[in-house]
Amino acid sequence: MRLQQKAEILGAKKFLGVPSVDFETGGREQLIYLLMAGLHPRSKVVDLGCGVLRGGYWLIHFLDPGCYCGIEPHAERLQIGIKTILEPGMMDVKRPRFDTNTRFDTSVFGEKFDFFLAYSVWTHASKPQVQAMLDSFLRDSNEGGVFLASYLPASGERPDYKGEAWTGTSHESDVAGCIYHSFRWITGECEGRGLRARELGRDTTHGQSWIEIKRRGPDGGF
Ligand SMILES: C[S@@+](CC[C@H](N)C(=O)[O-])C[C@H]1O[C@@H](n2cnc3c(N)ncnc32)[C@H](O)[C@@H]1O
Repeated sequence: MRLQQKAEILGAKKFLGVPSVDFETGGREQLIYLLMAGLHPRSKVVDLGCGVLRGGYWLIHFLDPGCYCGIEPHAERLQIGIKTILEPGMMDVKRPRFDTNTRFDTSVFGEKFDFFLAYSVWTHASKPQVQAMLDSFLRDSNEGGVFLASYLPASGERPDYKGEAWTGTSHESDVAGCIYHSFRWITGECEGRGLRARELGRDTTHGQSWIEIKRRGPDGGF
């Protein structure tokens, strides 16, 4: 059965945390963004808030065994991803690893990662949670590491989110919702950590805005 059909059948029974519409193309587009940023089969990737593996599905297929790690505190979503979205045998062949911590703590895997991915996560995460992800990136990525995150830019009618809590469905909530962050706040947080952020534009499938974050080069550039 095609991945899209599988997601539609699952999504009709239970909300997957993401729309089942364009599940397949949206997940594949996450892989395309990572490829454009230099992803290689040997790259080590951590997928923050990996949900039912919409993007993880493609990454697990593409990457060498042991190279994909995912964090998802909603244990049921994770099980749907592992048991139903992934084909039988993929866990044994590709050996992805998962953790359910709520702190965006990537040190649990004992790895240095080449890529951090947070798709449709900063669209729900509070500023302290975004800060925790940036701190994890600094601590647990390689020198040339890349953090790709999607977000929704704050504007006049979409105020910069100042709350402390996650907004949207999660292991703790069934209430849908999205929040907005200002790019100026994001760049300030990056600069304070010796990182540089640049906007990559909006994706085709879901229209989320992508940001690429790296350590600042010796000349201050990318
Ligand atoms: C909108 S979904 C996106 C899932 C996935 N990245 C994708 O593109 O399909 C956001 C996910 O973040 C998860 N999440 C919520 N709080 C989290 C936390 N503290 N740490 C990690 N993930 C969290 C939710 O359970 C949900 O599965």
